[in-house]
Amino acid sequence: MNVRIYKDAQAIGTAAAALFAAQVIDKPNCVLGLATGSTPIPTYKKMAEMYREGAVDFSGVTTFNLDEYVGLDHDHDQSYYYFMMENLFKHINVPHDRIHVLSGTAADVEAECGHYEDKIKAAGGIDLQILGIGRNGHIAFNEPAADFAPATHIVELTESTIEANKRFFASADDVPRRALTMGIGSIMKARSIVIIATGSDKAEAVRDMVKGPISPSCPASILQAHPDTVVMVDEAAGALL
Ligand code: PGA
Repeated sequence: MNVRIYKDAQAIGTAAAALFAAQVIDKPNCVLGLATGSTPIPTYKKMAEMYREGAVDFSGVTTFNLDEYVGLDHDHDQSYYYFMMENLFKHINVPHDRIHVLSGTAADVEAECGHYEDKIKAAGGIDLQILGIGRNGHIAFNEPAADFAPATHIVELTESTIEANKRFFASADDVPRRALTMGIGSIMKARSIVIIATGSDKAEAVRDMVKGPISPSCPASILQAHPDTVVMVDEAAGALL
């Protein structure tokens, strides 16, 4: 793991966006793995800025998002599809038919998971994946568990994740209880990974990811076994390293 400490969220956004820009410039038809959450927002703002300035052209790019809530359709303002439209896709030129977000309202959500894996494979695999990390060490919706999930699957959300995400809903009761998520195995297949974290409430998870044993009790710790992972944290999130 290549750990880099930055002064603040803005600096991480600029640095992570520069990685994406370099990826797209090197390989205009690359496949990007994208994440939701508050941490990547400065990265997406910077990517949009670079596009507006003419520095990067996303017209050949394909994207896959990590996860989606079960039961929310793409128009729901808390769906991850909606989040990606508002925070990134409306502002850059990835062709609509190359944007992939799991469907939480598919008639057969199990089949949806299998199709998603097939689509990633058919696109040639993910070149660069961005990840956030949960306070409990989760990546995407891969919560602490007994095993590392190999592929895209359905998960029951933990109380800690429902608690963390309820701020976006009218109440905790409105947070969906299930989600679809790429598995740890799907994520580990990405050729390069950047994982970003800010704030002191992520410090323990960041420590366990970087210095702890590789264990499904801290799903992000598996990234120690990935050949090309950059960890970008601010001083607060990196305080226990
Ligand atoms: P956050 O979420 O960026 O909103 O903190 C990260 C995550 O839970 O993966």
